This record gives sequence, structure tokens and C-alpha cells, in this order.
Amino acid sequence: MQIEAATGSPASNTADNVIIFAVRSDAPSARGAVGELDAAFDGAFSALAADGELTGKRDEIVAVHALGKAPMKRVLIAGLGEPAALSLDTIRNATAGAARRARSFADGNLAIAVSGDPLAGLDEEAVAEAVTEGVLLGLYRFDRHLTPSQPPRNVTGVTVLGAHAAKLKRGIATGAVLADATNFARDLANEPSNVLTPTEFAGRAQTLAEETGLEYELLEEADAAKLGMGAYLGVAKGSHEPAKFIILRHRGGAAPALGFVGKGVTFDSGGISIKPANNMGAMKQDMSGGAAVIAAVGALARLGAPINVTAIVPATENMPGGGAIKPGDVLTAMNGKTIEVINTDAEGRLILADALAYANRLELSPLIDVATLTGACAVALGTITTGLMTNDDELGDEIRTAGKRAGEKIWALPMFEEYDEAIKSSVADVKNTGGRYGGAITAAKFLAKFVEDTPWVHLDMAGTDDAEKDSGATVKGATGVPVRTLIRFALGRAGAS
Ligand code: BES
Ligand code: MN
Ligand code: ZN
Repeated sequence: MQIEAATGSPASNTADNVIIFAVRSDAPSARGAVGELDAAFDGAFSALAADGELTGKRDEIVAVHALGKAPMKRVLIAGLGEPAALSLDTIRNATAGAARRARSFADGNLAIAVSGDPLAGLDEEAVAEAVTEGVLLGLYRFDRHLTPSQPPRNVTGVTVLGAHAAKLKRGIATGAVLADATNFARDLANEPSNVLTPTEFAGRAQTLAEETGLEYELLEEADAAKLGMGAYLGVAKGSHEPAKFIILRHRGGAAPALGFVGKGVTFDSGGISIKPANNMGAMKQDMSGGAAVIAAVGALARLGAPINVTAIVPATENMPGGGAIKPGDVLTAMNGKTIEVINTDAEGRLILADALAYANRLELSPLIDVATLTGACAVALGTITTGLMTNDDELGDEIRTAGKRAGEKIWALPMFEEYDEAIKSSVADVKNTGGRYGGAITAAKFLAKFVEDTPWVHLDMAGTDDAEKDSGATVKGATGVPVRTLIRFALGRAGAS
């Protein structure tokens, strides 16, 4: 979608929908765009405010028709809530909600007013970026497998209206790359597993590489066997779909390269330790971590970020075929460590064991892995917050800061050494489950064995990869978390931000 920058007053804008913002406890008629437009609208906004129909509270969207009094068709006033709590995140979410509301009425274009009150205290570039992300994320739909009964309604164009054209243009450009990358990851994760097989996943990564200038490399099962990736190949054995180990490189700066590793299980049936039928379909999204790291390096290439980043995605199905691994089996990962398989449904850590050992072999540092790894993490933190576990607290803080900037919530869980006890095995170097309690942490402890001394952060997104309903910039289905955190982190490392 085309998003343009323009300077000028919202009061004279000719778009179908002009979006302006209001905060709570603001006398809406007295300040900013609301005040500017109130006179043209013959005091309609003051009247709505007086009657409590326009309060500026969060999630409120008030639509008022101009009826010829001003050049636009209608104004949408998006509430931002308490001014003291105003943040880019609130603006991103409010814009997304207003854009969806505008689309629900009819086809038409949008103008979004970002200068003046109540946004006057914020950097216009950052606000332009947030509203660009809000529009593109909020209007995302996954409808490629739907036969429409009538053509869907569309937003036909967007203008960000402010005071400084250069700042607006920069903000729009960055915001569009971050949002498009998030939507790219959403597309991959929303795709059913009969469409997005490991082969198709690799094909989409290759296409992205051709479009963005990333280097693309693929390890077939035979290559993985030569490298001794017994844990990854063990998981692949139960499926007829060939496993694909995907590598994408962005070369924009000096060595060493950052390593982003993403879990790429295109369908997780549980394997021989099969999952219950109820909601098993959600496991088509068990490659969301892989989608996120691929999307993030794609965005870094598009932005020309002055840094080296390698993304690694071990892609496979986890199926209970005749060749499948069984509870009690012992696998050997490429770093020589042996693993007792207690439960074949703890497959994510098996494939990540080899992927992290491989990343270590490439001397990537630091390593960030992203995975829909444990139901336990979703139990601990719910569906709002991604879990973070690390062997380097400073690096963990850096990722949390990047998450804050990106509008993605992340919280750390502890990695005390006492948790190691839970994954000790009497027949192998480590076992692949640590029991019911502290399941997110014992999974991370397992991964740590394959990371060794490299600074590393593990992000468990089992709770945050999917949304049940539309809310702000999040839409029902795959969320695209934590694409923007990864991009922000790499940009921070590259000295931009
Ligand atoms: N992919 C699942 C984790 C998951 C659960 C992601 C719910 C998203 C929503 C993972 O492979 C898994 O099955 N984990 C097991 C581990 C257990 C067997 C130790 C789990 O969490 O139950
Ligand atoms: Mn599983
Ligand atoms: Zn899984």
C-alpha cells in the first residue's frame, strides 16, 4: 500500500477519512486537531464531548461526517487514553483500530494527522513510524484461501499529515519495512501445513532472498547427516516431507555476525507422543519462530542495516510415521552430546539443539533463538508476553529494551543452576523433558547445553504467536511476534536505533 507524507492542516484535507487523536481529560474542543476542526464542524466535537460521547479514552473511535462543512467525508477521532501514559505503542494501536473502522464503512483513503496536540511532545519521525506500522499491521488480513461472496473493502491510500516532510518520510519508510516484515511472518505462520511444508518454507525464504539481496543456503537431509545433526534428523524421521535446514545471510557490516535461530516445525502432531485432537490445528503455527527470524533478516536487508546477521531455521514436520523416533531413543546432536528422548512432543528443543550447535560452529554471536517451545511458558506468562531466558543478563536487557521500542512485551524468567537437575538423564548426557514444573525454564536449560559459552537469549513465544481476536495492531491469527524486536535489536547493534 502506498503511504505518503504531506504537510498541512487536517481541517482542509480532502481524504475520505481523516484520523485525528484525542487524549483523556483533554477538553477535546480546546486543543490540537480536535479543536481546529471543531469550528468547521459547527461545534460538533464540543457537543459530543459535553455529552460524554467523546472522551479520548483508549480504544474509543468516534466517527463524525463532515456533510460538506469541511472537505473530507468524515473525521475519526481515535482515543489515546491518559496523557501521562501516552506512548508510541498506544498511538500504533489506536491508529490500527481507526484504520480498521474506516475500512469497515467503505472503500476509501485515509489521512492521519500527527502534528500538534496531543502528540506535540513526541518526535514526529517516531510518530510517523508508529502510525505507519499501525495502519499496515491493523489492516492485515489472511484471506488467500477464502472465496469471497463479495469483494472485500479496502483502504485505497494513506497520507501521514504533519509539520516536517523529511521526518515524516523517514518514519514512514522505516515503519513500512517493519510492518511488512511482520506481515510476511504472519503470512507464513497462518499458512496451513499442507501448503507451508518445509520445502515451501524454504522456497519462500529463497524468494525473499532474491527480492532483498540476502544470501540463501539450504542444507538437505543428506547435508545435515554429514554434519551429524542426529537430533534434528531424528524429529524429521516420522514424516514423509523432506526436512530443510534454511540459512539466510545479511552482510551489511563487519564481522562477527549476529545469529538469529528460529524453530521451524511446520506441523507438530507431537509425534509418537501424539497430542490430543482438540485444537491440534494450531500446531501449523509451530514454525512462527522460524518465520520471525527470516522476516527480520529480510527487513534488515531492505533497510541496508550496517551489520552482519545470519538467520537459521531448521524446518521439519513432527509426525508419528513408521520411521519416527520413540520415547526411550537416544539421539546424538552435532556437538556430540547425547539426548534421551522422554517425549517426542518436546521436538522443538531437539531441532534447536543442532541449529544452535551449527550457529556456534559458524561463530555467530550473540545468538537469539525464537521458538514456540513450551505450553508451560504460555501458562506462566499468558498470551500477552513473550518469555525470555538468557545466559547473559545484559544481553537480555538489550533485547527487552528492543522489545519495548518495538511494542512487543517480553519478560525474563530465571535460569538458576538448580534447574539443571531436572534434565539429567541416567542413559544420556541430557534428557529432553524436565517434568511438569518450570517447563519453560527446563526447556531453556536444555538449549543452553548446545549454546555453550556464547552469549545467548532464548525467546519462548508459545503464548504470543497467535491472537484470538483483533486488538489494536494485533489481528486474529498469527501475530508476527517478535519480528520487530529482532529488527530493533539489530538496528541498535548497528548503531542506528
Ligand atoms: N509446539 C509445542 C509448544 C506449544 C504449545 C506451542 C502450545 C504453542 C502452543 C511444543 O513442541 C510442545 O509440544 N511442548 C511440550 C513439551 C513437553 C512435552 C515437555 C509442551 O509444552 O507440552
Ligand atoms: Mn511438540
Ligand atoms: Zn512444537
